[in-house]
Amino acid sequence: MTLRAVVEGIGHYLPERIVPNAEFEKTLDTSDEWIRTRSGIERRRFAAEGQSTSDLAVNAARAALAHAGLSPQDIDGIVVATSTPDLTFPSVATMVQKELGMAHGFGFDVQAVCAGFIYAMTTANALILTGQARRLLIIGAETFSRIMDWTDRSTCVLFGDGAGAMILGAQDGTGETSDRGILSSDLNSDGRYREMLYVDGGVSTTGNAGKLRMQGNPLFRQAVEKLTSTAETALEKIGLSGPDVDWIVPHQANIRIIQGTAKKMGLPMDRVIVTVQDHGNTSAASIPLALSVGVEQGKIKPGDLLVTEAIGGGLAWGSVVLRW
Ligand code: ACO
Repeated sequence: MTLRAVVEGIGHYLPERIVPNAEFEKTLDTSDEWIRTRSGIERRRFAAEGQSTSDLAVNAARAALAHAGLSPQDIDGIVVATSTPDLTFPSVATMVQKELGMAHGFGFDVQAVCAGFIYAMTTANALILTGQARRLLIIGAETFSRIMDWTDRSTCVLFGDGAGAMILGAQDGTGETSDRGILSSDLNSDGRYREMLYVDGGVSTTGNAGKLRMQGNPLFRQAVEKLTSTAETALEKIGLSGPDVDWIVPHQANIRIIQGTAKKMGLPMDRVIVTVQDHGNTSAASIPLALSVGVEQGKIKPGDLLVTEAIGGGLAWGSVVLRW
């Protein structure tokens, strides 16, 4: 028998305020047409004043618990992927723990920017397989609207706020790729690419949160190549390849990156979950949001083989293969 970390529930939360592309035309030299054709984004959500990352995370967590039919008492620990925490510390995870009324277990945050949920799933899988926990709540939650430079048209039109949550529980499997749960993962980073995507502030440098800076075009080219390679590596580790996959659930940064990666993997777009038009780039929240919407739309079904992949600041990138 082989222990597996199996998805027991999924859920998401989006802030109420919907911001269509046209809204940026009022203040920037940009257009709905440019944003749509270059990125695939049509609208995004922005958190309300006073609404923080942990608020979004708690709502997503409650949705995932309801989907799984579980209560916070059933959860052993919380892992939150975020680059936009409420405070420098404590972690968003401990804030969620308190809001859920949990006086037991543990919580911590992981930070790998847009690849954060891939790193969080991989970490949670390891904790479950090594017996540290039987059931974990993993959340990707972001308020990137708080680190936008609203005068920079090349970045501020691309990002949105939101949260998605997943519950992973220990279950016995056979060790075969027909098992449900996380089957494989592949993590990478390369700090030499720092200038391509970073935030120009921080605790030990400027003392403030800073604003996001990005070299979009070179990053675009890195993204297609690295996302394809990490997805294929994670599949190869378990003797599978592109055609075995039912759904690619990619990081939602740009429809052209999503299309380029699917094409390189030899998969048609009707096997890809796409939410970028409605959410924009929600960084670490992007994959759990897409998973939750894919399930809600009746696309992702129990037994389907999924490959999730993401790349972000660092650069950090990776992939997780799982059977739903
Ligand atoms: N409206 C109108 N024109 C614009 C806008 C805008 N909002 N933004 C840029 N432009 C202009 C540029 O100034 C440039 O003009 P120029 O040719 O006169 O210099 C022109 O449009 C083309 O710019 P490019 O940057 O070459 O456009 P590109 O086709 O590369 O698209 C984009 C830009 C959408 C940013 C794309 O490069 C991209 O998606 N990159 C990757 C983003 C990504 O994957 N990020 C990783 C994850 S994010 C994270 O980790 C936080």
